[in-house]
Amino acid sequence: LFLYRVNIAFILKDGTKKHIKGKVGDNAMYLAHRYEIEMEGACEASLACSTCHCYVHHDYVDKLPEPLEEEEDMLDLAAFLKENSRLGCQIILNKDLEGIELTLPQATRNFYVDGHVPTPH
Ligand code: FES
Repeated sequence: LFLYRVNIAFILKDGTKKHIKGKVGDNAMYLAHRYEIEMEGACEASLACSTCHCYVHHDYVDKLPEPLEEEEDMLDLAAFLKENSRLGCQIILNKDLEGIELTLPQATRNFYVDGHVPTPH
């Protein structure tokens, strides 16, 4: 069972670091929800909001698969975008991600209202 464990830390808006033991296959956004971390997930991981936006610790950026085009589109709409921005709901834990740290941005934007996603201008 130990082999499947992946430690992950969330750095909250107030700067506190919360350590969580996840497992291989866990979705970072749902994991955050389970531990009442203030990462939203307004569209339930359907790549239609950017409320699960987070910053990936630089050591782990290259360990994640490249974002899908849909994720890139949503990130373009996100507030406080950085070069290490990703959507939490697209981060699936695996053993290479042991010790990953995700920092929550100061604010997120929710474009997902009543299932309607406005197109970016
Ligand atoms: Fe909406 Fe991640 S929960 S894009």
